[in-house]
Amino acid sequence: MIGLPEWAEVSAARARHIERVVALIERWIVAMAIPEAEAVRWRRAGWLHDALRDAPEATLRRLAGDHGPRGLLHGPAAATRAMEAGERDPGVLAAVRWHTVGSADWDWVGKVLYCADFLEPGRTHQSARRTELADRFPADPDGVLFRVGQWRIERLIEAGWQLPEATWRFWNALPRSGGST
Ligand SMILES: [Fe+2]
Ligand SMILES: [Fe+2]
Repeated sequence: MIGLPEWAEVSAARARHIERVVALIERWIVAMAIPEAEAVRWRRAGWLHDALRDAPEATLRRLAGDHGPRGLLHGPAAATRAMEAGERDPGVLAAVRWHTVGSADWDWVGKVLYCADFLEPGRTHQSARRTELADRFPADPDGVLFRVGQWRIERLIEAGWQLPEATWRFWNALPRSGGST
């Protein structure tokens, strides 16, 4: 799959974000010499992750099958819709489903998407820090994943929001250099 799925409901600005996420993933694929069979999974997750980001709330709730906050519905909804459209790769589906909150059970597709979604250059807040992490990812994916998780979770805590269970499980499961503490 190259490009947005035909069932996508996204604004023009959102489509540009998705394109930048896929472009960053592509940079990493090249820099890390990822085999094509794995690279196509990374690309698919990028194209799918926000495909329903601008869909009506009723559509999102129907597909997501729960009543959580609106901002957390589009991942589960897109995963369900992608499955209906024939996506069968559990790692790709999990990457899309949990991209907003994190997952302790991800393979590298989920981890790559989580990082690329946050580090893509269209996000201009603290862009130097984002650029440094994006550039470092191919040489140190675990280290960058840890820093991205830390940064994203710090923002949730600073905003006073609750941490979804999936988020703290993701955080506790991240590999730590130098031990488990
Ligand atoms: Fe998203
Ligand atoms: Fe996104």
